[in-house]
Amino acid sequence: MSQLANQIAVVTGAGRGIGRAIALKFAAEGADVVVVSRTAENSEKVAAEIRALGRKAWALAVDVADSAAVSAAAEKILADCGKVDILVNNAGVTRDGLLMRMSDADWDTVIDTNLKGAFLVTKAFFRTFAKQRAGRIINITSVIGLIGNGGQCNYAASKAGLIGFTQSVAKELAGRGVTVNAIAPGFIETDMTAVLNDELKAGILKVIPMGKLGAADDIAHAALYLASPGARYVTGQVLTVDGGMVM
Ligand SMILES: NC(=O)c1ccc[n+]([C@@H]2O[C@H](COP(=O)([O-])OP(=O)(O)OC[C@H]3O[C@@H](n4cnc5c(N)ncnc54)[C@H](O)[C@@H]3O)[C@@H](O)[C@H]2O)c1
Repeated sequence: MSQLANQIAVVTGAGRGIGRAIALKFAAEGADVVVVSRTAENSEKVAAEIRALGRKAWALAVDVADSAAVSAAAEKILADCGKVDILVNNAGVTRDGLLMRMSDADWDTVIDTNLKGAFLVTKAFFRTFAKQRAGRIINITSVIGLIGNGGQCNYAASKAGLIGFTQSVAKELAGRGVTVNAIAPGFIETDMTAVLNDELKAGILKVIPMGKLGAADDIAHAALYLASPGARYVTGQVLTVDGGMVM
């Protein structure tokens, strides 16, 4: 099946984890992919994996929280690829800590990357999407943005904000035939969750009805659905993929 044939996808934070899985899934379905991450090394590694699937790939090192860097990257992407059909705002970080001990820097880093980053990248491609009168924007939020979590007020605020952002941009672009949706993963096995200790992991497993963590590929499947022709009438939604944790 080539559900994404002739499509150009831009995936941020695609150097590893969920972003990498989405980039590879899209390529396997026929898309050419722009791999954006913080380091050229990781972007290039994933771009090579995409080329091995017979698709075109571009590797970029961009800090999504840096407005000038994002503008320059968007200009380069449009010059090199000619268009963008699918944008996945996946880049994200955590800087966990209780509110009373949280530094301004840890608050700012998380909001700047997870929320402002999605704003900057979406804004950089907004005119292109509006002019094309077609396209898909997929924002990777989190179940924590739906239910909150002690020790993650910065992360929860960024991910809840991303849901409001998704719904607002969905309304702005609906008339142009561009859909804007979010995916809220539960706990997924990646480098981000590898740092959790066994006690925390045991506590998390107790609140997941399916009794296990998800895989990056579970999120990639959901992203493929939202990017596919079959989802053309779905916009402004949050698709939760969490083994039943939030229901
Ligand atoms: N793993 C989980 O359980 C889980 C659950 C819910 C949501 N999420 C979200 O999914 C997304 C991917 O998470 P992951 O688990 O794959 O994490 P990860 O740490 O493995 O990967 C994050 C990626 O984002 C990139 N990145 C971080 N800051 C960036 C910046 N300023 N500019 C550009 N790229 C940047 C990193 O380079 C990396 O490639 C994140 O938005 C995360 O919040 C993850």
